Amino acid sequence: MSEKQTLSKNIPTRRDFLKTSAAAAIGSTLASPVRTVPGAYAAGSDMIKVGLIGCGGRGTGATQNVFNAAQGVKLVAMADVFKDRLDDSRSRLRKKYADKMEVPDDRCFVGLDAYEKVLALSEVNYVILATPPGFRPQHLQAAVTAGKHIFTEKPVAVDGPGFRACLKVYEEAKAQGLGIGAGTQNRHKTGYLETIRRVHDGAIGTILAGRCYYNTGALWMKPRQPEWSDLEWQLRNWLYFTWLAGDHIVEQHVHNLDAVHWALRSHPLRATGMGGRQVRTDPAYGHIYDHFTVDYEYENDVHVTSMCRQMAACDRFIGEAFIGSKGTCRIDNYTQYSIKGETNWRFAGPDNDPYVQEHANLIASIRAGKPINGLKNVAESSLIGIMGRMSAYSGKVVTWEQAANSKETLMPPKLAWGPLPVPPVAMPGQTELF
Ligand SMILES: NC(=O)c1ccc[n+]([C@@H]2O[C@H](COP(=O)([O-])OP(=O)(O)OC[C@H]3O[C@@H](n4cnc5c(N)ncnc54)[C@H](O)[C@@H]3O)[C@@H](O)[C@H]2O)c1
Repeated sequence: MSEKQTLSKNIPTRRDFLKTSAAAAIGSTLASPVRTVPGAYAAGSDMIKVGLIGCGGRGTGATQNVFNAAQGVKLVAMADVFKDRLDDSRSRLRKKYADKMEVPDDRCFVGLDAYEKVLALSEVNYVILATPPGFRPQHLQAAVTAGKHIFTEKPVAVDGPGFRACLKVYEEAKAQGLGIGAGTQNRHKTGYLETIRRVHDGAIGTILAGRCYYNTGALWMKPRQPEWSDLEWQLRNWLYFTWLAGDHIVEQHVHNLDAVHWALRSHPLRATGMGGRQVRTDPAYGHIYDHFTVDYEYENDVHVTSMCRQMAACDRFIGEAFIGSKGTCRIDNYTQYSIKGETNWRFAGPDNDPYVQEHANLIASIRAGKPINGLKNVAESSLIGIMGRMSAYSGKVVTWEQAANSKETLMPPKLAWGPLPVPPVAMPGQTELF
């Protein structure tokens, strides 16, 4: 009997999977790694069979994280647009996790439609979506239609239509009892959880203002090779193209915007942003900006200043701060969490690995029959970045409704391995809002 036949024989339906998992996981909590549930895997009926879509740095990392998050997890299929990326990921994973790898050649798929082939496999019940974010709304929809539980990397949209598509997927997943975990990992990090819980419990009173930063260095860039078409060059350097990444205010700063979204429990009413491309001016870096600053205005005249920068040899500063009626709260560079004022508190640790915990929480929720669905939160946080970018690019004030209802689809109408012109660098005062 082939490996494929052996696996297919024991695949439960999604309904069976949820039923047996719920029974097995009684007593577990959402925050506890499921490995604490004794005897849950004896029958092997609630095996998590992962399909990885997007086998780059984070996809390979997330696969290692899911292996470490729970017992009863295997990787059974992989998809990437490029064979070299898939092969590299598969061989790296095999070196360290040979016992968890059941990925024969006929479950490895390459090309722009590779994701559909992974989703078509009945062997897969949990997918990791780790391609560039431009593809995310399409892949999320296809994964929910195929009845898979999903771990999606952030951000989940790069434009207004993508945001609306995510809200639809969120509802469909809820209706179908499918779990969606998101790679906004701070929401699974002990220090963040402790701090934001205190803020929500009133430790700094009413939040009056905030700040958030992702000021960091230069990122990788892959010099263009003569044999690469425009599409291949852009895909391999996806960070630098807005249709693929959303610009770094969406792609990277979403972590901080999400922490603010979580703390304030609301979304901004409007954004007034500016930015530019001062250091990374070479066309090798596509057409995105290298710095942004945005004033986000929330209800009750609460303003949050946001800053993000990707420039070499500048100071690194990543975090959030909140000013309240009774004190202040700071979270910097993922290490320091503190509250000052009427309450004085500093997180004493220990902190956890949120990249593992986010899978542990999702798997525990699936096995308990109460799947987490974090898609709406991460979609809204992605839109906060999008509205900041729209404002900086256009030089206009952009409201939440304008961004959410925007008609601007950044994905080129047809993707083919040939010419694909690079959009001009956005010019405030000239770039239009749609
Ligand atoms: N949560 C975090 O801290 C964190 C950290 C890094 C990256 N990320 C996110 O993870 C995602 C991937 O980032 P990365 O750093 O791994 O990039 P990467 O370039 O290393 O990997 C992306 C992979 O997707 C593949 N790909 C591109 N288009 C595809 C398609 N249509 N179908 C299938 N495969 C496709 C690429 O060939 C590549 O192998 C991004 O959304 C990024 O924002 C999150």
